[in-house]
Amino acid sequence: MLITIEGIDGCGKSTLTKGLGDALADLSPLFTREPGSTWIGDQVRRGIAEEIDPIAEALLFVADHAAHLAEVIRPALAESRLVISDRYSDSRYAYQQVTLAPYLHDPLLWLRSVHGSWTRQPDRTYLLIIPVEDALERLDGKDGREHFEQGVVLEQVQKNYLLLAEEDPQRFVLVDALQEKEKICSFIAGDIRQLFQSSQ
Ligand code: TYD
Repeated sequence: MLITIEGIDGCGKSTLTKGLGDALADLSPLFTREPGSTWIGDQVRRGIAEEIDPIAEALLFVADHAAHLAEVIRPALAESRLVISDRYSDSRYAYQQVTLAPYLHDPLLWLRSVHGSWTRQPDRTYLLIIPVEDALERLDGKDGREHFEQGVVLEQVQKNYLLLAEEDPQRFVLVDALQEKEKICSFIAGDIRQLFQSSQ
């Protein structure tokens, strides 16, 4: 079963993932992430840091996704494992829709067609929602902000995420990221456990 965790920078995905590691340890989940689960992820990070052409950057994210699926996700799903990915295709649909807007007439349509039929839809996606000001405050302690991590960009990214969730309410679960972190973690861990056990 494939679970994904999404949200804007500073929404608390990393803390949540760590918490899920403890809460779901008995299910031996495979934790993975985009970008960065294969060597292509290193090139993506370089591309982000160098602020390369947005189309080149988008295609690097997609290349990382293809390798991630082939090398990590599909083999684990073939063994019926629980796979939890910190970011996945919805990150492209939410972020690259913003970065590609000046270059393409319909970035979402383009992004969806690039993913084509080879991608694999998550079974459930937890979307952490946080006011952008709070996310930026959390990011303040971090050195070297990526070009995505600006208020205007994150506002649009979050709006895109909410539209994606509206389109697919069966898959998305919206979570208020301002709640206590233990509460968020125990709610999501309980939900994943129930879903995973009912799929066995
Ligand atoms: P991430 O590793 O989640 O951030 P961090 O380095 O802060 O832990 O992702 C790096 C950045 O890349 C983040 O700002 C979101 C962005 N991103 C996209 O724009 N598109 C994508 O498809 C993905 C996976 C990430």
